[in-house]
Amino acid sequence: MADIHVALLGFGTVGKGVYETIKAHQSRLRAILGKNVKVAGILVRNIEKHTLPEDDILLTSNFEDILNLPKLDVVIEAIVGREPGFSYLKKSIERGCHIITANKEMFAYHGNELLELASQKNVACGFEATVAGGIPAIQTLRTLLNVNKIERIEGIVNGTSNYILTKMREDGVAFQEALQAAQEKGYAEEDPTNDIEGYDAFYKAMVLSQIAFGEQPEWQTVRRKGISSVSNSEIGLFSEWGLRVKHVISLEKGVRGLSCSVKPVLVGPSHPLYSVEGVQNAVSIDADIVGNITLQGPGAGKFPTASAIVEDLIQLNVNHGCYYEQEKNVRFKKDLHHDWVVL
Ligand code: NDP
Ligand code: HSE
Repeated sequence: MADIHVALLGFGTVGKGVYETIKAHQSRLRAILGKNVKVAGILVRNIEKHTLPEDDILLTSNFEDILNLPKLDVVIEAIVGREPGFSYLKKSIERGCHIITANKEMFAYHGNELLELASQKNVACGFEATVAGGIPAIQTLRTLLNVNKIERIEGIVNGTSNYILTKMREDGVAFQEALQAAQEKGYAEEDPTNDIEGYDAFYKAMVLSQIAFGEQPEWQTVRRKGISSVSNSEIGLFSEWGLRVKHVISLEKGVRGLSCSVKPVLVGPSHPLYSVEGVQNAVSIDADIVGNITLQGPGAGKFPTASAIVEDLIQLNVNHGCYYEQEKNVRFKKDLHHDWVVL
């Protein structure tokens, strides 16, 4: 039986989750794919840090070694930041490999280009893991778009922020302590700036926007704010009033065009996002025929993210769609003033 040869770029929380999932569920994958999935190579920054359980896997810090693997079908990227992930995936496509990425920052910037290149080379590009961890948000949007027009998306898409806000409210712990716990659990990135300043949620909103509306808003027009300035006393006071602080993305296409915001807001008990707690994420979609669909599930972490990536691995032969029409080359505006809003 032939193998599917896979390379992992990055062997941190996500890369290890994918490796362990492939190993643990090989027989399930074989039953679905009719082939074994073989991890042929792993790329890391610092090979000294890593020991591999199998001898026949190439461990390297040189991407050319990965490209030169004699057999390579799929490249899975789970590195942080726009580069080198983007360049590595471009080269992988040029070699004729299918690609899968979890890297939402890179994909918000360069998804368009990668999808176009993948389409030209007739390979697939999976990116389910870029948004909301284990929730199949991209797949659901694609399915809805077969017949529906998407009108609005609202969601909690940063697991770290929701985890911190929940810990601060439930346990009264300080922001820094809650952040450290999120890092220890593998939810927050090594440099947590993107998580706590709203950039991570912003990138996810841009990926969702591209799928749902076929375009992204001009990045400078998006009001983006994270949770870093939310205090325990605010959370306590709002809690007494029966309100919870949630970090929410909101995307809407109306008569005046596409609008987007990414910010902490207050929600009351009747709001569907009120009970989304801890590392849970939720994506609430309003579409013209079906009405509202709200998906909720684990938004970060090793295995939820691995689940999304392995789903892509299984689907990649059918997902050749080119959803990105226009490369955006725009930058963030500096922080705007934040006013509390009750949803
Ligand atoms: P980690 O920091 O745990 O792991 C990053 C990995 O990338 C490490 O193995 C690191 O190598 C490697 N790496 C970093 N820079 C380079 C480089 N220049 N060349 C080669 N390898 C490099 O990150 P995560 O696994 O948490 O996240 C990976 C990606 O997945 C990110 O884009 C993140 O946003 C995204 N993501 C993360 C989720 C999560 O829950 N953690 C969920 C969904 C998406 P070394 O080990 O040697 O340092
Ligand atoms: N750091 C991200 C989060 C990982 O906390 O949501 C999942 O994309």
